[in-house]
Amino acid sequence: MAVSFLPCFLILCLFPGISFTHAESGMIGVNYGRIANNLPSPKNVVNLLKSQGISRIKIYDTDKNVLTALANSGIKVIVALPNELLSSASSNQSFADNWIQTNVASHSPATEIEAIAVGNEVFVDPKNTTPYLVPAMKNIHTSLVKHNLDKAIKISSPVALSALANSYPPSSGSFKPELIEPVIKPMLDLLQMTSSYLMVNAYPFFAYSANADKISLDYALFQENAGNIDSGTGLKYNSLFDAQLDAVYAAMSAVGFNDVKVMVTETGWPSVGDENEIGANEPNAAAYNGGLVKRVLTGNGTPLRPREPLNVYLFALFNENQKPGPTSERNYGLFYPNEGKVYDVPFTARSTFPVNGKGDEVPVSTWCVSNGEMARDRLQAALDYACGEGGADCRPIQPGATCYHPETLEAHASYAFNSYYQKNARGVGTCYFGGAAHVVTQPPRFGKCEFPIGP
Ligand SMILES: *[C@@H]1O[C@H](CO)[C@@H](O)[C@H](O)[C@H]1NC(C)=O
Repeated sequence: MAVSFLPCFLILCLFPGISFTHAESGMIGVNYGRIANNLPSPKNVVNLLKSQGISRIKIYDTDKNVLTALANSGIKVIVALPNELLSSASSNQSFADNWIQTNVASHSPATEIEAIAVGNEVFVDPKNTTPYLVPAMKNIHTSLVKHNLDKAIKISSPVALSALANSYPPSSGSFKPELIEPVIKPMLDLLQMTSSYLMVNAYPFFAYSANADKISLDYALFQENAGNIDSGTGLKYNSLFDAQLDAVYAAMSAVGFNDVKVMVTETGWPSVGDENEIGANEPNAAAYNGGLVKRVLTGNGTPLRPREPLNVYLFALFNENQKPGPTSERNYGLFYPNEGKVYDVPFTARSTFPVNGKGDEVPVSTWCVSNGEMARDRLQAALDYACGEGGADCRPIQPGATCYHPETLEAHASYAFNSYYQKNARGVGTCYFGGAAHVVTQPPRFGKCEFPIGP
């Protein structure tokens, strides 16, 4: 390789913190809820997940059949300790130890359990289980340490957005005062200590549906829109989802936690609803979920945390016919129980996106470019990686070749990143480079240089 840049091994010595693996990029998972009497067998579900390229799921328990079906599948799973067990897990260390042994350790490592959701939306549990939450999380963590699983398996607890007292504008985000001292601070302490993340269930649908007169549908559905400026920071928001996440980040900052990350453990949009559930329909669900996947694949963070790629679990894999509540509750699924698609949502950039939800589809081309905000040395390191180990075709950016001009680091890096991205079939995480790159939907223009699409 005649490109005059430092060799890769040296770069890795200089920048040991830079990782080019998928772990740091945005990722998409799906919640596999099972409150239904007509779902396919877990074995068939694993085949469905594989056929769709879904490599991460979340379940609401530790069902033995499900965890066994997932063994050696390459699919990672977040399991849950149900709210009903919080009291026992909080007061009895041997209960926690037994639970981990039976439900987690016995399946690991054949089944890749990556986290345990301790309880679910505990603050709104009508049985008032909130006081048990942090003690239960601590006992579960102690049990993981005993099994030497604490490095591989994170603990957290999905929090509903209703834990916020304020969420608009995002920078004024704050937790409900009565939750802060008893549970929010001790929980964030534990998450920080264990290098875990806050799990958040965020549904722009609820906010839109209740305020359809004030919130633009395009803003809620990741469509083109004028955006909203946060008067506190001057930052512009182009989606309600981003605004909701930043309200959570602001709320954490307000109680002194600036370095705990967020994982979105649930988000989605129903394809059917009752008459008063404004916006619940199939085109909107397709637009929301398709827009969200596209949004995550850009690798970009939120306005307040631009370097934090999004980690999102869609809700849900199937429509669940035994869920109580309004019609929407039974219609969040991406699939019908017969495994047919409710609407098309691609999980990789290689697929096509529905344009108007009516079944029309156009192939959407995407390219990868360097984002120009990164320090030169890191950008150079990323370029070297792409041209070296990454196997990008960097011949066109060598002296005398068609894409040598303009002779700028940004243009050369963009060419190399795009080559790597196309070569890897535009897969999730292949346009990231430690934050140096992002996906664009228009063909990049650098002088006379044309960026190829496809490998
Ligand atoms: C604690 O949990 C263990 C294991 O589940 C159980 O055998 C024991 O009875 C529990 N102790 C109390 C006081 O509930």
